[in-house]
Amino acid sequence: MAYEQLIYTSQISPQFSYEDIGNIMISANYNNAQRNITGALCLFNQTFIQYLEGNCQNINSLFQVISKDKRHDEIQIRYYGQCTERLFEHWKMNQIKPEILQEINCLSNYILTDQVSVISPEDAIKTFQAISTIIKSDHE
Ligand SMILES: Cc1cc2nc3c(=O)[nH]c(=O)nc-3n(C[C@H](O)[C@H](O)[C@H](O)COP(=O)(O)O)c2cc1C
Repeated sequence: MAYEQLIYTSQISPQFSYEDIGNIMISANYNNAQRNITGALCLFNQTFIQYLEGNCQNINSLFQVISKDKRHDEIQIRYYGQCTERLFEHWKMNQIKPEILQEINCLSNYILTDQVSVISPEDAIKTFQAISTIIKSDHE
């Protein structure tokens, strides 16, 4: 079975407050389960980077909803691809802890220079592959 993978970055907007994260996670867990979508969300300073995987139609319709959310703007797709196995099989959506992100080499320069929003497609997908490996090894 093939899954579509989408990674985008965005910037928090003036309407965003840090308490929103909890509500976003509650909606995401519920809605993504209905759409059979899994993924991961990270926030660095002002920048979100989110990875979504699932069937093409569901990913596109969710992305349309997320794109209209006033709590962030400057939304840019950084990577679009396909995979045969999910990277986050057990996660409808989860926020990645900063301790995990610090271990990821292909991301560290972007964090240090506050350039996550211009991450290359290759580094974007490598980042989530690395997060997936770390998470899977934590569960073993
Ligand atoms: C950075 C960011 C990531 C989001 N990720 C998701 C997501 O993965 N799934 C989801 O359903 N909503 C996500 N949302 C929220 C949606 O934009 C929208 O508010 C929500 O789907 C509405 O759901 P509700 O009608 O059930 O409250 C995200 C919002 C932001 C700002």
